[in-house]
Amino acid sequence: MKRIISIMLAAALIISAMAGCRTEDGEEGGTARIGISMPTQSLQRWNQDGANMKAQFEAAGYVVDLQFAGDNDIPTQISQLENMIATGVDVLVIAAIDAFSLGFVLEEAVAKGIPVIAYDRLIMDTAAVSYYATFDNWLVGALQGTFLRDALDLDNAEGPFNIELFTGDPADNNIHFFFGGAMEVLMPYIESGKLVVPSGQIEQAQVATPMWSTERAQERMENLISAQGYGPTGTPLHAVLSSNDSVAQGITNALLAVGYDADNFPLLTGQDCDIASMKNILAGHQSMSVFKDTRTLAAQVVLMVDALLKGEPVPVNDTEIYDNGVKVVPSFQCVPVFGDINNYVELLIDSGYYTMDQLQ
Ligand code: GAL
Repeated sequence: MKRIISIMLAAALIISAMAGCRTEDGEEGGTARIGISMPTQSLQRWNQDGANMKAQFEAAGYVVDLQFAGDNDIPTQISQLENMIATGVDVLVIAAIDAFSLGFVLEEAVAKGIPVIAYDRLIMDTAAVSYYATFDNWLVGALQGTFLRDALDLDNAEGPFNIELFTGDPADNNIHFFFGGAMEVLMPYIESGKLVVPSGQIEQAQVATPMWSTERAQERMENLISAQGYGPTGTPLHAVLSSNDSVAQGITNALLAVGYDADNFPLLTGQDCDIASMKNILAGHQSMSVFKDTRTLAAQVVLMVDALLKGEPVPVNDTEIYDNGVKVVPSFQCVPVFGDINNYVELLIDSGYYTMDQLQ
């Protein structure tokens, strides 16, 4: 039954993709072209996002121009966008590397009447963004903070517990939500002294990780280890908050290098359920992650683009949260889900996201 419904849905979308698009001179006809700009291929999730969107748009009858901006290279992203605009795509779907550097190029999209959908990361300081498709980013942080609170049993245990904090790229608007959502849970315990941040680094700017880089996170963790003397026989480190998996992987590398193992590993959070992090979770070298099913987000973007091109109301479920400095961008937030060693089979394997072999 499900299959029949999805075939019917795909057929309906194909018909609308064929019918609802403009040709260069504004006449109806042809097939609508979707320009998809992803930030990097070096992080697993963006490959998956790109591949899922391409497949789902093509299944719905659209033509897709999918580009990855090297390894988070801002000038490459800008020139790829310029090129897509010049070749006359009908819609742009963009996961920005730097939320603040696309305003100028997007003016060209506006001039050509090309709508822009911000994908996962909000594009800031421009009126050119029509819609935003993302996950509930505050909830991502809240899931991480709540996990640490409960795993340390902060309401009952005597403590104090030592924690260090890591978030992501300062040019990614999402970190306000990830870090904010986690700190809303953790801050009362820091204020009461139950949680201690020995480095004293608790401001978002102090704990940011440029480009979400695994190497930069590893370096910072190594510095914290030498400055504070953390180690299995040194200063206790009970937990590390990390906003995502690529950052968590750097933290794990640094902790393993000073002798932590599965028996004494500090609690460590993540996000994305990257394969590398799932392997760490199975080995006891990371505690949890947050699953954001990129298939769901891709499907939502296809629905939004389809409605947009047909001139129908675009499905959104939030019109208040995501202010980009110029306007509040109507958004659709998908639901992120807690993932760990106890539920990964159901969440990731049974759902067909990964095969068990990929996690071995
Ligand atoms: C964020 C995204 C996360 C994470 C990170 C690094 O914007 O929401 O899922 O992957 O970027 O690319």
